[in-house]
Amino acid sequence: MRLAATSLGWRAGSRAIVRDVALEVASGEVFGLIGPNGSGKSTLLRLLGGLLPHACGEVRLDGQPLSALSRREIARRIALVEQQADTAEALTVRDAVELGRTPWLSMLAPFGAADAAIVTECLSAVDMLHLEDSAWSTLSGGERQRVHIARALAQRPRLLLLDEPTNHLDIHHQLALLRLVNRLDVTVVVALHDLNQAMSCDRLGVMEGGRLVACGPPAEVLTPDRLASIFRVGATPLRDPADDAMLFRFHCLEA
Ligand SMILES: Nc1ncnc2c1ncn2[C@@H]1O[C@H](COP(=O)(O)OP(=O)(O)OP(=O)(O)O)[C@@H](O)[C@H]1O
Ligand SMILES: [Mg+2]
Repeated sequence: MRLAATSLGWRAGSRAIVRDVALEVASGEVFGLIGPNGSGKSTLLRLLGGLLPHACGEVRLDGQPLSALSRREIARRIALVEQQADTAEALTVRDAVELGRTPWLSMLAPFGAADAAIVTECLSAVDMLHLEDSAWSTLSGGERQRVHIARALAQRPRLLLLDEPTNHLDIHHQLALLRLVNRLDVTVVVALHDLNQAMSCDRLGVMEGGRLVACGPPAEVLTPDRLASIFRVGATPLRDPADDAMLFRFHCLEA
């Protein structure tokens, strides 16, 4: 699903939190959002998901304005995993992922075997099937995060918005998630802090002070000058001798 946003903006009182963002993401593309704390990444993801009232600008999915769609129609197309997602405590892991099927259910199409199969597949995709009967309240932070991702996958969205999806995950599950995201046949916009992980995205957008200040292939966007001016770090580009992939070693700049 092709995503196009124009003149997107959002204010909190008199303060502009996101300003005049224009963005196009091709169908199936993995687009990484990077930027310092408070630069507006989470707010932009919520705007792309049509979740913020009083927003400026327009979001279109395959040419269709989001504003013309009902909440249910949006939920069939877009899933958002928030940075600090929560779930009612009394649920089991499987219950929590079953909630992802809600936009597809109706009186005439109640939860059935096909839905249960999707839930099982999504639990398995994030390596949580063995804990499907556990109470949500007993899960670790990373396990909760994986359940939220499974719920978003169970929604079978065509646009997946992920806000720092790897932040609580151990290294194995971080890499597994990034690989999963790259293999999915959906359009993905993902906010990431780990700039080496961000290198695996098809394109990156850099947020600074609520604006999208750069956009392009990772190697073109992550220049030493930009890393110094926006992220306030020095960076030495290195090559992995195994596959010649580029990565950065970061260091503090002198005050
Ligand atoms: N509802 C709100 N009311 C007031 N200010 C807000 C609101 N939501 C966000 N902000 C402010 O807008 C700025 C951007 O917030 P946002 O969460 O989008 O940043 P972020 O880039 O996701 O940061 P982080 O990397 O820490 O997750 C922050 O300074 C935040 O305090
Ligand atoms: Mg954020």
